[in-house]
Amino acid sequence: FLVDKGNYRHFMAKEIHEQPEVVGRTLAHYLDLAEGVVRLPFDLKFDPKALTRITISACGTAYYAGLVARYWLERFARLSVEIDVASEFRYREAPLPENGLMIVVSQSGETADTLAALRYARAQGQHILAIVNVETSTIARESDTVAQTLAGPEIGVASTKAFTCQLAVFACLALALGRARGVLSKERERELVAELVATPGQMAEALSREAQVEPVARDVARASSVLYLGRGPAFPLALEGALKLKELSYIHAEGYAAGELKHGPIALIDYAMPVIVLAPPDANLEKTVSNLQEVAARGGHLILIGSPHAREAAAAELAGFIDMPENVAGPFAVIVYAVPAQLLAYHVATFMGKDVDQPRNLAKSVTVE
Ligand code: G6P
Repeated sequence: FLVDKGNYRHFMAKEIHEQPEVVGRTLAHYLDLAEGVVRLPFDLKFDPKALTRITISACGTAYYAGLVARYWLERFARLSVEIDVASEFRYREAPLPENGLMIVVSQSGETADTLAALRYARAQGQHILAIVNVETSTIARESDTVAQTLAGPEIGVASTKAFTCQLAVFACLALALGRARGVLSKERERELVAELVATPGQMAEALSREAQVEPVARDVARASSVLYLGRGPAFPLALEGALKLKELSYIHAEGYAAGELKHGPIALIDYAMPVIVLAPPDANLEKTVSNLQEVAARGGHLILIGSPHAREAAAAELAGFIDMPENVAGPFAVIVYAVPAQLLAYHVATFMGKDVDQPRNLAKSVTVE
């Protein structure tokens, strides 16, 4: 196939901007849009009511998609979720339960550690479901059920659109399992599907605000270390935001659960280290804002990615603010908040003159262990 950059300077920019389309396409594949309910494009080859546990394993950005999904699977499908990076999981000799489901997540479907985790789980009698972007990949071939992300070819080494499509598939899967297990009402399913259906349009809106990201990026580019904070599903997004920044700009960055701030990273707070707070309007907002104020009280360098209401609630001096629409709220807001996190890393790196499509030392597909 031939893939070009279109009118973009980099594949990564093109792929970030494709997200409303590819997430929309992926959702359309897993939803019955006319009925406003979930409709998986495959039959579940196991009894969802008999499921005892879900184990998730993956690497890099795909692992962070799994960490976000844990919140949804536990909440909407009432299943306990065990998750680990594949490069550790495979060596743990973890006992896996009868009637357990293993979900492996991989853009390429070729990552060596993820494949090894899959094979370990198979030997432990798990049903294997793979969320993959490349349908013909080894991981897809070795799985019992393939849930494809319809992101299209991803060329940028740092994953962007594959990540948000993985989230879209996971969200649908969580709702489908919730329904099938009888723990999610039809009404609640419809409400949640309506929220999911709104996400591609909200991502387009977030992309249209790209100009806001540039001054923030110029500011972050001066730092030698950056802290990202989030709570609930926004916590794994903090990890992903930090990963994107270090991959592309080579600035050291760390993601932290907002509530863990006081257990260590608060000691690092000074004006030289930007603290990026991901604060979507959800049930966790108030507490995240109070962590933000702890940073402010210590003279921290605060950047908020949140709604106008979050900014008002913060009542603190901000070095930067990326304004997200107020209606991007609830459990799936994190899919939309991925956009400013990606754009920020992209603009910091391009401002610094880095090669965003081919960062040093990184490979698109890691087939060594
Ligand atoms: C590499 C890529 C990452 C990706 C990870 C897992 O490190 O640079 O962007 O998240 O591998 O790859 P996979 O193909 O399994 O999703």
